[in-house]
Amino acid sequence: MNQCILRSPKPEDWPEIAELFANSIPNALASSLGRRFGVCYYRHIAEDPEATSIAAFDKAGTLAGIVIGTLNRQRVLRPPFILKLRLLAAAHFRLFSPAFLRWLADSRHTTKRQDSENTQLHAELLMIAIAPGFRGQRLASRLIDELERFFRNKGLNKPYIIHTEKSNHAANIFYEQIGARFAGTNLYHNKQINEWYKTVAQT
Ligand SMILES: CC(C)(COP(=O)(O)OP(=O)(O)OC[C@H]1O[C@@H](n2cnc3c(N)ncnc32)[C@H](O)[C@@H]1OP(=O)(O)O)[C@@H](O)C(=O)NCCC(=O)NCCS
Repeated sequence: MNQCILRSPKPEDWPEIAELFANSIPNALASSLGRRFGVCYYRHIAEDPEATSIAAFDKAGTLAGIVIGTLNRQRVLRPPFILKLRLLAAAHFRLFSPAFLRWLADSRHTTKRQDSENTQLHAELLMIAIAPGFRGQRLASRLIDELERFFRNKGLNKPYIIHTEKSNHAANIFYEQIGARFAGTNLYHNKQINEWYKTVAQT
């Protein structure tokens, strides 16, 4: 069992957290829009009143991992206008980068949501990443336990959603191992995205 300390991130932790996400999930659009964008975006979704974030640090204070989850995914999908402006400013000239233009062009390759079972689910595991040197020590499992403690304390009585790229082998095995249920694959901006549902453990 790893010896990391878990706590809420402090404002000064966000640049390191954005760096960890960018390095751990390089295919994500946010990872290609620069650290200022990452700090602004991740901090905003984590500090939403209906969200939580839990970071893990080793004894030397090195960031080992982070999880962000929300009770209300609609608030992440539809950011307020003022935040959109701040994100645009933070992304700066990267909005003309090939990665961003490709993402825009690929928006037509997105599965149209039908009236499926997921429309009634609002909570979501938004992001999780463990720094390479700390993987394989059950740290992500610990962070999930803490996220579920938050969901339980808030009275969540439905499964929460998890999305990850189909090609992310480690993450898909991880979600299966923690007891999530595979619900299908959708196209999102021409990427194959797996959807998982996870029931909050009642311990
Ligand atoms: C996926 C990730 C979060 C797992 O973190 P972790 O702390 O190493 O995971 P755990 O040690 O808690 O693993 C629990 C179980 O998941 C499975 N698992 C985790 N990583 C695995 C891997 N690379 N390959 C195969 N199985 C894996 C194992 O069954 C493991 O149990 P075991 O140790 O008894 O074999 C980590 O690899 C990571 O940060 N990846 C990059 C970021 C990312 O892809 N995030 C998810 C997309 S949002």
